[in-house]
Amino acid sequence: MAKITVIYAGDYGNTEKMAHAAKEGAQNIEGTEVVIKQAEEVTSEDFESSDGVILGTPVHMGGPDWRVKKMIDTVCAGLWMQNRMNGKVVGVFASGGGFGNGGGGVELTFVSMLNNFAELGMIIVPLPKNTENYEKGGLQWGPYGRSADESMAHTGVSDEALEVVKRHAANVTKVAARLKDQEIFTRG
Ligand SMILES: Cc1cc2nc3c(=O)[nH]c(=O)nc-3n(C[C@H](O)[C@H](O)[C@H](O)COP(=O)(O)O)c2cc1C
Repeated sequence: MAKITVIYAGDYGNTEKMAHAAKEGAQNIEGTEVVIKQAEEVTSEDFESSDGVILGTPVHMGGPDWRVKKMIDTVCAGLWMQNRMNGKVVGVFASGGGFGNGGGGVELTFVSMLNNFAELGMIIVPLPKNTENYEKGGLQWGPYGRSADESMAHTGVSDEALEVVKRHAANVTKVAARLKDQEIFTRG
């Protein structure tokens, strides 16, 4: 049985809603244990005991939420030093207002998180462009839930985007289940 930990930060519930969709998507793969936690609650044991991690953040001034970065710099630092996450599986998602209609920095936000996970030696699961509703909730890096319209009025994350999150989480879970216990990269 694969264990997946869904981690998120946020203030207004958009990323949290996506995190719960990720939890549902992972649970759709039979026999998966899924834990959901806010970034500030996560411990290094949560990371080490997981076969896969799914991390979501709101876009904050073109980058990840500070609580996500704090978790990376504190909880993940020792795991990085000791190569404890090598070969485990990861996927990311983000929620943003979409300022400027060009993504509002969401791509840099994705790349920032994925860069940290590459440092951790983790296997990154992308979002294939033939995923259903990709055009309404996805980029190659992962699901993107836009929470505002062109005039920046709050709309919330669309149901289509939430469906994309579920599919992405299922993909991460399937990869994690196949690689579980294989330790294809040396740990430690
Ligand atoms: C401090 C702050 C900075 C933000 N910066 C951006 C930004 O650079 N680009 C963007 O598209 N949205 C930006 N937003 C909007 C949020 O990303 C968006 O409302 C998101 O859906 C909030 O997620 P949450 O409900 O989980 O907090 C910002 C919001 C805050 C509070």
